[in-house]
Amino acid sequence: MALPRRRLKVVVTVMMINLFIFILISRNSGHDKNGHHKVRVPSKPFWTKLVPNSAYWNREQQILDIQNNPILAANYSSADLPDWLNDTSFRSDPCQPNFRVTTQVKDYNSLPARFKDFLLYMQCRSYPILIDQPEICKESPFLLLAVKSLAPHFDRRQAIRESWGQAGLIANHTVVTIFLLGNATAVDYHPDLSEMLHYESMRHKDIIQWDFRDSFFNLTVKEVLFLEWIQNRCSGARFIFKGDDDVFVNTYRILDYLKGLSEPKARDLFVGDVITNAGPHRDKKVKYFIPESMYVGAYPPYAGGGGYLYSGDIAARLHNASERVALFPIDDVYTGMCLRRFGMAPEKHKGFRTFNIEEKYRSNPCAYKSLMLVHPRTPQEMIQIWAWLSSPNLSCQ
Ligand SMILES: *[C@@H]1O[C@H](CO)[C@@H](O)[C@H](O)[C@H]1NC(C)=O
Ligand SMILES: *[C@@H]1O[C@H](CO)[C@@H](O)[C@H](O)[C@H]1NC(C)=O
Ligand SMILES: *[C@@H]1O[C@H](CO)[C@@H](O)[C@H](O)[C@H]1NC(C)=O
Ligand SMILES: *[C@@H]1O[C@H](CO)[C@@H](O)[C@H](O)[C@H]1NC(C)=O
Ligand SMILES: *[C@@H]1O[C@H](CO)[C@@H](O)[C@H](O)[C@H]1NC(C)=O
Ligand SMILES: *[C@@H]1O[C@H](CO)[C@@H](O)[C@H](O)[C@H]1NC(C)=O
Ligand SMILES: *[C@@H]1O[C@H](CO)[C@@H](O)[C@H](O)[C@H]1NC(C)=O
Repeated sequence: MALPRRRLKVVVTVMMINLFIFILISRNSGHDKNGHHKVRVPSKPFWTKLVPNSAYWNREQQILDIQNNPILAANYSSADLPDWLNDTSFRSDPCQPNFRVTTQVKDYNSLPARFKDFLLYMQCRSYPILIDQPEICKESPFLLLAVKSLAPHFDRRQAIRESWGQAGLIANHTVVTIFLLGNATAVDYHPDLSEMLHYESMRHKDIIQWDFRDSFFNLTVKEVLFLEWIQNRCSGARFIFKGDDDVFVNTYRILDYLKGLSEPKARDLFVGDVITNAGPHRDKKVKYFIPESMYVGAYPPYAGGGGYLYSGDIAARLHNASERVALFPIDDVYTGMCLRRFGMAPEKHKGFRTFNIEEKYRSNPCAYKSLMLVHPRTPQEMIQIWAWLSSPNLSCQ
């Protein structure tokens, strides 16, 4: 008997509170006795006090958010900024190593070297271009194929040129292919291949190279520089594919898909192998490990970096948004963050197989006909699969 009575008490109390709130709201509903609308002007800032996040990336993002918020920026004079936001000293040259991170990131000294390198240069987004192709988009292409590559990967680039990355006219559409490179530096024990690269670039005129250390955690730098490059050199491209140099891309299928898109769909296009509900790996042994001192929170939906396809319109918006998103060491997650910045999410398309296809289908030409991307493939496999797809007598059900 005791239980139902208690429940009744609770119900009655909740109803009383609701009634009270209702009366309170109707008395204060913004109309005075004559029915005029009352405008209430807050006498002081009404937003909550900014509390610094415990993770370094999140804190850097808070600073960027304030700098880019016209209302907040106008109202926070530098004198009343909290100490942690009043961090102007190292911004005079963002490309000098920022040694303040050594104390600002609490476990800095015990982090793997790649994190230290990333953190020291996290503010730097501009690196000189060493090899450029200023004329490559003189005629705006329908599709720009941009392949992230590393200087020593000559065979992969050549296989791509001979197969899915054939530039020119494919299925009656103009296709331009470029390779995005940083510096394969002596610091990472790379042999000096600069003369070979120079020759390759003269021969094929499809290499873009910037002077930064080409490492896994600098792929975001490559992304940001590429977004800038598109705006300077290829802003007329209708669509852009960006991917790795160890994937097979069915360019025929992609062109076919793009041709069939409606106008609004084509404008807002961003498709790939989308990963949702992911977050940082906290296991130090995983390649994608991110420590808690660096980032907290979930990841936005993002398309796996093996390859994704988007419109030239989205490229311009990504470029804009990237200036307001702090660099994050994993490039495909970073692109997801930029998309979210302007209210977009990547769309999953089952033609993108960044985790490969079932083994029993891998040597079946017809398995590739309806796919857009398969990862991974060797240079020889790329040439073989392309030959299958280009054969006039290929007949699939
Ligand atoms: C914010 O700044 C604007 C322009 O400087 C000023 O007019 C306004 O009164 C400020 N608001 C607050 C709440 O400080
Ligand atoms: C913020 O920096 C400005 C300029 O360096 C300085 O005048 C001001 O006192 C600083 N404010 C705080 C709270 O440290
Ligand atoms: C190729 O494109 C041109 C110009 O856009 C057009 O005139 C021609 O009919 C197209 N050819 C085919 C086979 O679609
Ligand atoms: C990058 O490569 C260029 C040309 O090969 C060279 O001049 C430059 O010193 C390199 N930069 C670094 C940081 O190694
Ligand atoms: C990124 O490149 C810059 C410039 O070469 C270099 O100083 C930095 O250490 C690199 N970062 C990583 C994580 O490799
Ligand atoms: C980029 O940002 C500027 C300033 O906020 C805005 O005027 C412009 O329209 C934006 N461009 C795109 C493509 O979103
Ligand atoms: C196409 O025909 C040629 C010559 O008949 C043959 O050698 C080749 O294997 C065929 N290719 C396919 C994919 O069936």
